[in-house]
Amino acid sequence: MERIPTGRPSWNNAMRQAAVETLDSKRWVKGPKVAAFGAAFANHSGALNAHPCQNGSSSLWAALRIAGIGPGDEVIVPSYTFISTATCIELVGATTVFVDVEPDYYCLDVQAVRNAITPSTKAVIGVHLFGQPYNPELIEVCGENDLVLIEDAAQAHGAAQDMVDGTSRVAGSMGDIGCFSFFPSKNMAVGGEGGMLTTTKAAYAEKISGITNHGRSPNLEAMELGSNLRMSEVSAAIGLVQLEHLDGWVQRRNAIAARYTEALADHLHLSPPSVRPGAYHAWHQYCIQTDHASAFVEHMDRNHIDARRYYTTPIHCQQVFQNHSQYQITLPVTDHLGQTLVAIPVMHELHDEEIERIVKALITFNPS
Ligand SMILES: Cc1ncc(COP(=O)(O)O)c(C=O)c1O
Repeated sequence: MERIPTGRPSWNNAMRQAAVETLDSKRWVKGPKVAAFGAAFANHSGALNAHPCQNGSSSLWAALRIAGIGPGDEVIVPSYTFISTATCIELVGATTVFVDVEPDYYCLDVQAVRNAITPSTKAVIGVHLFGQPYNPELIEVCGENDLVLIEDAAQAHGAAQDMVDGTSRVAGSMGDIGCFSFFPSKNMAVGGEGGMLTTTKAAYAEKISGITNHGRSPNLEAMELGSNLRMSEVSAAIGLVQLEHLDGWVQRRNAIAARYTEALADHLHLSPPSVRPGAYHAWHQYCIQTDHASAFVEHMDRNHIDARRYYTTPIHCQQVFQNHSQYQITLPVTDHLGQTLVAIPVMHELHDEEIERIVKALITFNPS
């Protein structure tokens, strides 16, 4: 029986042709594909501007640099997330402030954010974890307290959220600066490493491209510290084709997620994930909560299905933070999620028979 993986990137003739044509053109860097990919991504996310870059981690570092965050500044983040959401803060010399997340939706707990704000707080990095948009109240909290809101949308291409005023915003336009990853397992990819910076603020609109090119202005004068974070033309050409498919792919992920949630409705040992009211979930991961996480992973493995536990050691408990004042403190929800969440395959490339194989494995799980 063929094993079902947790990720399976899409690749088709249009993507292959775009890549080969770009290579044949010998315009491999700083060309029209990167510009076009940025413009198309801004259009899709409703951001004022967008610019491709090397990967999601460098986009986070760049976002903090653009926002002028450095030594003496505090930045609030969740600890239940991918490592670079927090290490980017230390890399710019600022202070990381870890707070807990919501028990139902796994994103920043807005009340915990309010409680953590001090006169030194300059920014918040919110994560749309597993594709679930963060609480839109975070936008208000940052506005009221004059804080820069950096949106870690690395797992949320195509997610959207209804706002308090009744409008809807797509990931990439739910903060001041948005950061995306195109790592091959993400909802869309670029045939290698890749990232995207977006912004909704005029003050950052020029800077998001400059920071990827040594902090230079259009007349090539270095205005601030940057580096070479540029995306290649061939990656951008592939990304442009992938972006055309994104909405359909996220719809497919939603349909698969709905099938699992229906199948788990009365399960004694597995709880399906909740969706925030007003959210359009991008389902980068479908995480089931269970008190029997190890047994569940083993059960799926016996059924030739990959299942993965995420962030079992939260960031504030990892060696790299051993000298941090919050090293190994108790963040109850974060700790609990690390012990109880298990992700199962939900990628858009799953075939119908594979989905039914997964459903069958879910309903036959019984740890006793
Ligand atoms: C939430 C989150 N932030 C940031 C990143 C970093 O992206 P990259 O791997 O492209 O550097 C990832 C990637 O896994 C992520 O999931």
